[in-house]
Parts: sequence; structure tokens; C-alpha cells
Amino acid sequence: MAAIIENMLAQCARVIYTKLDMLNKYYIETFGCQMNVHESEKIAGMLESLGYAPAATREKAGVIVFNTCCIRDTAEQKIAGNIGELKVLKRADKSRVIVIAGCMTQQKGAAEALAEKFPFIDIVLGTANLYELPNKLKELNERRARHRGKIVAVDDNDRPPIDESVPVTRTSYPNAWVNITYGCNNFCTYCIVPYVRGRERSREPEAIIGEICSLLKEGYKEITLLGQNVDSYGNDREDGVGFAELLRRIAAIEGKFRLRFMTSHPKDLSEEVISIIAKTPNFCKNIHLPVQAGSDRILKEMNRKYDRAAYLGLVDTIRRYMPDCGLTSDIMVGFPGETEEDFLDTMDLVRKVRYHNAFTFVYSPRKGTVAASMPDQIPYAVKKDRITRLIALQNEITEELSGDFAGKTYEVLVEDAPKPGMLCGRTDCGRLVNFAGDASLVGEFVDVRITRNKASALYGEIVKNG
Ligand code: SAH
Ligand code: SF4
Ligand code: F3S
Repeated sequence: MAAIIENMLAQCARVIYTKLDMLNKYYIETFGCQMNVHESEKIAGMLESLGYAPAATREKAGVIVFNTCCIRDTAEQKIAGNIGELKVLKRADKSRVIVIAGCMTQQKGAAEALAEKFPFIDIVLGTANLYELPNKLKELNERRARHRGKIVAVDDNDRPPIDESVPVTRTSYPNAWVNITYGCNNFCTYCIVPYVRGRERSREPEAIIGEICSLLKEGYKEITLLGQNVDSYGNDREDGVGFAELLRRIAAIEGKFRLRFMTSHPKDLSEEVISIIAKTPNFCKNIHLPVQAGSDRILKEMNRKYDRAAYLGLVDTIRRYMPDCGLTSDIMVGFPGETEEDFLDTMDLVRKVRYHNAFTFVYSPRKGTVAASMPDQIPYAVKKDRITRLIALQNEITEELSGDFAGKTYEVLVEDAPKPGMLCGRTDCGRLVNFAGDASLVGEFVDVRITRNKASALYGEIVKNG
């Protein structure tokens, strides 16, 4: 009998301990672009300053945050499926807090629809309300004591102030993300981002430089500047500091590190910026320059504000300054009204530019955008056929270009150890290389000789450390 009671007590203690442990833990699931990846680091920072620690899985967390994306329907469907799965966890323990944040919540009527479809959500937090998370968690506790329901905090403010005091728990060493702008003013006709992220706001140059300097002091080796259109940095400021001047100030920072940035907009990337990148050893010769389409008619309908000739001219300028610059792109097929001829223009442009890599997308109508109500939406079968052809072409090009790397030696920043004894990192021009080595080398610069390539992946061996 005594043994049975002892056993039961031990079991109760285990349950209580597991529950207490869970209450103090958080889990963040991130969807979407680098902007969201970095914002999740801020969410983690806020939660850790409240005393929460990271949990290894959703099941072990008392606070579960979904940082969402709504750039395409496929993204939204996937996230909705994942939110649905949380129902079981909430049922298992009602004290769990479920927070839905990010772009998805900021679409018209979405916050209410989410709260209705998934009644177990506790807090819906808009992109403009992200920094209110600690207050909202406190408010939720007070409400729970009074058995009152959920919190929906989604402001319509399209110019929310920038909060420079938010703590950040970084998860991407040796790389560190640094925002330079928030929001977007471009209103490409297919894109939801300007509606869910508000107008473009640039951070103070001093705040950016200060952040970079302290990151380098902490040992980060690569800084990636983030903005929907980094080239329009400063347009909303009165001190005359634009992207070129910001880069000049970053170029003056001493020490060896790598600088990357995304995303450049072809309508704004200037020759001045290209020349600064070319002559600054710390700046990677790697530009992500989304073209979206190769047909002038479609580019105009997309409101991209450049044409094919201007884009190709820009590529020539980049290559004149930096012959080995790694160029990558975002390309979309199936925009409303896209004919086979328009699509062939895109294929032709891809053949001419020969990108190192490209992210390819099927156009997805986004409610409230101009393109969603354009006539002549393209049937899915046609879109599917075009994306298949585009991917095949780009793979062929990437593979051909990969062949050129064989036998040559490149400086690589070791970024990760995906499995014991194996490392990976990127060349200055942005190509990912896999090679053998010890995990202690993560964060170091090593020279790697490329020995072979398999499709687009490069493999090599270390020839020199540091
Ligand atoms: N600000 C960046 C990228 C934003 S979103 C830029 O201007 O390039 C990333 C990519 O998603 C875009 O470049 C575009 O190719 C794609 N995208 C945006 N809206 C889309 C939509 N409605 N359907 C399909 N792809 C889309
Ligand atoms: Fe979207 Fe265009 Fe802004 Fe990029 S520049 S975020 S594609 S509206
Ligand atoms: Fe990024 Fe998706 Fe929002 S791509 S800005 S997380 S809609």
C-alpha cells in the first residue's frame, strides 16, 4: 500500500514539475521572409526578458507564438493547418497561451476571422503591435483571473514608431540580421506587403551603425541588412543620409566581417551603391535583384517601374564593376494576362542574365491588391506548366555555373555544422559550399577548394583555416 501511495505521489510531483516547467517556456514558429525570422528573434528577446526560456518543442511550451506570413495563398493555407493543430495542445492544458502574430493578422478582417475560426487563440498581435507583447501577456493574465476572453491587438497605424529598445535573442550566429527600413511604399500590384507592413520607415543611421558595431564586438562575422527595398533607405528622412551614405559609414567600420543586404529594387539600385560594394573588401559581391518578369508589358502591369532594357543595363553595370558578382532573383509566373509570349520573354531574360540562383513563384491573388481584381487570371494548369519550365531552365543554369567553381579556392565563412563532421558556409558571392570539418570552426573564415558539384550543391575541402 505504502509503495502504491509513494508511486502516486511521485507521479503527481512529476506532473506538477512538468506543468511548472512548461509554464515558463516558449516556442516560436516562424513563417515567411527574413524580416519575420528577425522579428521572431525580437519576440524571443521580449519573452526571455520576462523570464521565459526556449522550449525544444511546441508540446513543452506554455507560450506558443506563430509569426505568420501571407505573401501567397500556399503560405496562408499551411499556417492555417498548423494553427489548427494547436487545438489539441490547448485542450490538453488550458493555461497555455497561444499568440498569432505577423503579416497574416494585419490583412483586412483577418484578425477577427482568425479569432472566430480558431477560438482557442489567446492573443492576436498585428505587425504594428509586435512590441506590445509583454503588456498583452500581462493583460491576458488579468483577464483570465476575471474569466474574460482573448485579446485582439491589431492597429491600423501604417506608420508605427520604431522601438529601438526591444531586446533581441539572436539565433543565426555567425550572421546577424539588422533592419534598416520597415514597410514598403512601392505597391507592386500583386503584393500584399505594403498593406500589412505599412509605409516605409528608416531607422536612424546612428542606431544602425551602433547596432553593427556592438554585434561585431560580440563576435558576429556577417551582418545582413534588411529592408523591403534597401535602396530607398533614408527617403523618409530629412538628414540626407541615403543607402549609399549608410554603406560608406559601414565601410568605415574596422575589422574583418561580411556585409550582405536584401532586397535591392532594380528601379532604385544606383551606380554609386554598386561602386561602393565593388571597392569595399568587407562587402559581399552578391546582389539579390528580383526581376519578377521579363516582359515589358507585364512589368508595367506589375507597377515595377523599370523595363527589361533598364534591368539588363543594370546587370551589365554590376558586372562591369564586379565580374564575379553572384546575382540572384525572384521570378513570378502566371501574373494576370501573362501570355505564352510574355512568359517566353521571362525565359529569355533568365537565359541572358544567368542567375546563380532564383526563387520562383506562381502568382497568387491577394485580396485587396490591384492585380487580384485584374481580368484574365491565368488557370492553374498553365501556371504550373510555366513554373516547371522556368525551374528546369534555372536549374540547368545553376548547374552549369556550379561547374565553373570546380578546382578553384574560395574564402568561406563557416555558418553551420548540419551533421557531425560536416560544415557548410557561403562564398563571398553567396554560393553554399559543403565540406568536412569540426563544428568548432563555425564562425571562422576558411579557404575551401571546390572538389565537385552535384546539381546546384558545391562540395569542397578546407585548404587553410583562418
Ligand atoms: N521586397 C522584396 C520582396 C518581397 S516578397 C522585393 O521587392 O523584391 C518576396 C517575393 O515574393 C517577391 O519578390 C515576389 O517574387 C513574390 N511575391 C510577392 N507577392 C506575390 C504574389 N501575390 N504571388 C506570388 N509571388 C509573390
Ligand atoms: Fe512587395 Fe514590391 Fe514592396 Fe517588394 S517592393 S515588398 S514586391 S510591393
Ligand atoms: Fe515577409 Fe511574408 Fe510578411 S514575405 S513581410 S512575412 S507577408
